[in-house]
Amino acid sequence: MGNLKDRHILLGVTGSIAAFKAVDLASKLTQLGAQVDVILTPAAEKFITPLTFQSVSGRRAYTDVDLWGGEANILHIGLSHGAHLLVIAPCTANTISKLAYGAADNLLTITALACKCPLLIAPAMDGGMFDADVTQANLRILTERGAYVAGPVEGRFASGLIGKGRLIEPAELIGHIRFVLGRNGRLAGKQVLVTAGGTQEPLDPVRVITNKSSGRQGYALAQAAIDSGGQVVLITTPTSLTAPVGARVIEAETARQMYKTVLSESVKADVLIMAAAVADFRPKKTARNKMKKREGIPQIELEETEDILKAVAENRSGRKRPHVVVGFAAESRDLLSNASEKLKSKKMDFIVANDISSDDAGFGVETNRVTLLFPNGKKESLPLMSKAEVAEAIIAHIAELLE
Ligand code: CTP
Repeated sequence: MGNLKDRHILLGVTGSIAAFKAVDLASKLTQLGAQVDVILTPAAEKFITPLTFQSVSGRRAYTDVDLWGGEANILHIGLSHGAHLLVIAPCTANTISKLAYGAADNLLTITALACKCPLLIAPAMDGGMFDADVTQANLRILTERGAYVAGPVEGRFASGLIGKGRLIEPAELIGHIRFVLGRNGRLAGKQVLVTAGGTQEPLDPVRVITNKSSGRQGYALAQAAIDSGGQVVLITTPTSLTAPVGARVIEAETARQMYKTVLSESVKADVLIMAAAVADFRPKKTARNKMKKREGIPQIELEETEDILKAVAENRSGRKRPHVVVGFAAESRDLLSNASEKLKSKKMDFIVANDISSDDAGFGVETNRVTLLFPNGKKESLPLMSKAEVAEAIIAHIAELLE
């Protein structure tokens, strides 16, 4: 659900062939718990009908017919009142220019003028129109006034031309919406450093020693922190996952690279969440060339890697430690005793203990079952949840510690 649950979102749809993508957006937002009120401009109605939106949002969609109806005098005020965000997607060059200059000639632009909530614009138009000086100038006027612009992206237009002007995909747009909605959240103004994934320790140019961590829990934590307004730095090993919109991403492959990056970034951080599965051992030597079978079975000598959390606890960066430090303990036996030992030795503010012995929790799956352990002996066991829900619970505890 993230930060969309029970949020009231006004979705303005203007006259572009990309209007059909707004249906998917309205559907996804509704599934994520938002209340979506759609306003179509007269040009949007040429491409799509209000009924299409009503069918996915379960709420009325409005058009200019409503503007001239009996309740017209209050409708735009009613729609703008209580809205948490006005999203205009797709937003044409024409509507951008109207918004920039305060034109109020249809229900959408009248409502936009009355809205006090943040405005997010997702432009969609032919590349030439987007590049036009006047469109760029209008967008500057809007961003200087606080509007947030998502996209457009490069691609092929309906006209057959290729350029920058396509509406960004609904899934990515939702990332932008979450980012904007989070801005005044409980972590606003806080720097949150999150590590994710399993490190890869090279044996030779093609082989690595790694582990089964998918990075999902770390990415979910980064998203949950953004949902709460945190400024997120995501230090991640290479994964197939898409980083949340708004995160600054730094790639680190090995434990050593992650160690260096975390130490240098953590001096600015208010929060450090070590969700990465960092290798405890690495090959002492990395073969310069690929090891060949004909050379016989290699004898691999291992050495210990740097312990990142320990280094942060011991303040090896020489400067301030993040205010809240959270670690993970993935255990296959003696979960709580092992975890509480780590909590103490690495001086964490709390540890997330997860039992990796069951099929539905831990590495490589969508769900997790964790227990949070605190230095004062407090213990909180969470039921089986999605990794996103686990992340939200962890972020709520972090926010409490910061407050
Ligand atoms: N960790 C770390 N640096 C390492 C290894 C682990 O910072 N070199 C962090 C992990 O990101 C995690 C916590 O320490 O948040 C516990 O990791 P884990 O591997 O479970 O603990 P270890 O102390 O390495 O103990 P062991 O592997 O022996 O259980």
